[in-house]
Amino acid sequence: MDLGHSCTSSLNIIKGTKNYFSDGKMEKDKVFAIKKKKVKPFEFNEEVTDVFDDMLNRSVPFYMESIQRQSQLAAQYFQDGSRIYDLGCSHGNLGVLILDQLKQRNLSMVAVDSSIPMIEKYLKRIEKYDYQSKVDLVCGFLEDIQIKNASVVLINLTLQFLDMEKRDDLIKKIYQGMNSNGILILTEKTIHESKVLDDLQLEFYRTFKVENGYSQLEISQKRDALDKVLIPDTIETHQNRILNAGFSLFDVWLKWFNFASMIAIKK
Ligand SMILES: C[S@@+](CC[C@H](N)C(=O)[O-])C[C@H]1O[C@@H](n2cnc3c(N)ncnc32)[C@H](O)[C@@H]1O
Repeated sequence: MDLGHSCTSSLNIIKGTKNYFSDGKMEKDKVFAIKKKKVKPFEFNEEVTDVFDDMLNRSVPFYMESIQRQSQLAAQYFQDGSRIYDLGCSHGNLGVLILDQLKQRNLSMVAVDSSIPMIEKYLKRIEKYDYQSKVDLVCGFLEDIQIKNASVVLINLTLQFLDMEKRDDLIKKIYQGMNSNGILILTEKTIHESKVLDDLQLEFYRTFKVENGYSQLEISQKRDALDKVLIPDTIETHQNRILNAGFSLFDVWLKWFNFASMIAIKK
């Protein structure tokens, strides 16, 4: 799947940390506010990166709550001397929460994203902080990343952008590179097998976006842009994929209509 503005070269490694919501300013998301002649497939380009925090806050129910709890789960399951992987890290909202909590520990975090503007923004954000050697920021595709000595792997709202046929392999690779008692923390937009419940979920999601100030035009143009780019699975598909990969425990710890946050533990 072509996400545009993606890294083409090999991996870039940088070091550093900090601050939730990038630089404190939150630029308003108006990406789909004006009628477009033709709606292009959604990309994590510069325009989206600039307004990403506002987009997340107004488009993802319980976004802050979810990443805060994910960072606490990460802190609880982190094993000294092991690695934390943040797959689809964007510009680091989740990563900096984790680094803040674990700065005193013997931690190595690998944060991966294929969008150059996202990685550049992450780099800029952490440059001024001195938790050096805690994070390796990688501009690349999840499909190409080796997972080794992992006690925590986070995939927050990102598996849904991978080609369907690559998802099983990614979860298997994560399982194989994970230490015993490690945790996979996965959050996704989901669909429901029942059309009645799926329609209900979508109706509440639409209401959520209207309540957060998005117009009907913005909602419909973004939906068109995400069509064939963000392809959600059912929770059952996630559960089967995760258990088939070898994980022993699976739970949905947060659910809001069509959004679900899941955990899985390797015994
Ligand atoms: C919705 S955002 C993730 C939000 C982020 N995890 C957070 O907690 O704020 C999805 C991210 O996944 C990245 N992405 C999508 N497909 C990818 C792939 N195949 N490999 C690496 N990154 C990918 C996008 O560039 C984007 O930054």
